[in-house]
Amino acid sequence: MDCSLHRIISTALIFMITIPSSLGHRDISQTERNLRDLCSLTRNSTECWKIIKSEYGRFDDTDYRSVAGIVIDLAIAKADEIHDKLNRLHEDSRNDELKGKYLSCSKNYNDANRNLDLAKRNLISNDYRNIPVQINDTLEELRSCRRAFNNDSFDPAHIGNRNREFGHYVDIVKVATDRLLRENDRN
Ligand SMILES: *[C@@H]1O[C@H](CO)[C@@H](O)[C@H](O)[C@H]1NC(C)=O
Ligand SMILES: *[C@@H]1O[C@H](CO)[C@@H](O)[C@H](O)[C@H]1NC(C)=O
Ligand SMILES: *[C@@H]1O[C@H](CO)[C@@H](O)[C@H](O)[C@H]1NC(C)=O
Repeated sequence: MDCSLHRIISTALIFMITIPSSLGHRDISQTERNLRDLCSLTRNSTECWKIIKSEYGRFDDTDYRSVAGIVIDLAIAKADEIHDKLNRLHEDSRNDELKGKYLSCSKNYNDANRNLDLAKRNLISNDYRNIPVQINDTLEELRSCRRAFNNDSFDPAHIGNRNREFGHYVDIVKVATDRLLRENDRN
């Protein structure tokens, strides 16, 4: 009798200890696993995880479509930020060559933003066909600004770094939308 009572108590204890903790953590670790999976497919998983982690609270749902939507939003916000910065630089600069580059890059970021916005609309309306082209066009705009500020050009405002930063966001968007499209093709 002592023995079975002991067994009941220890079984109950094990349940009390393990069940709440596994329930409490399962969602979080599942979300984290999904998002780390996404980052592992990008070119720079460390940088990807840094970006995702800083916006972790936005990822309530981790199905491919929801994640794609959120990372497109993040890329749009980043493009907006860089676009505004380029406009300010264009206004303030007294160097004609730089002024011209800021203006053309500002247009690139404006168009990158528009392409990402189209991709987001297509995602919302479940019309995925043109999304790869819209992501490609976004990358083409980025490449164009990269050419203006390549490694040995005068770049006092470090636009090269902003381009690299935006490149990480577009890479994440590309991976997130590619896997959505592959999943969609299978169904
Ligand atoms: C990832 O990106 C960071 C920041 O741009 C850079 O310092 C690092 O070298 C990159 N890592 C790889 C593996 O490309
Ligand atoms: C994206 O661009 C690459 C070359 O830059 C091209 O090979 C590829 O077919 C393009 N994909 C789409 C969907 O336009
Ligand atoms: C950057 O510099 C490296 C080596 O100095 C060179 O190979 C590469 O072509 C340069 N890139 C651009 C875009 O000028």
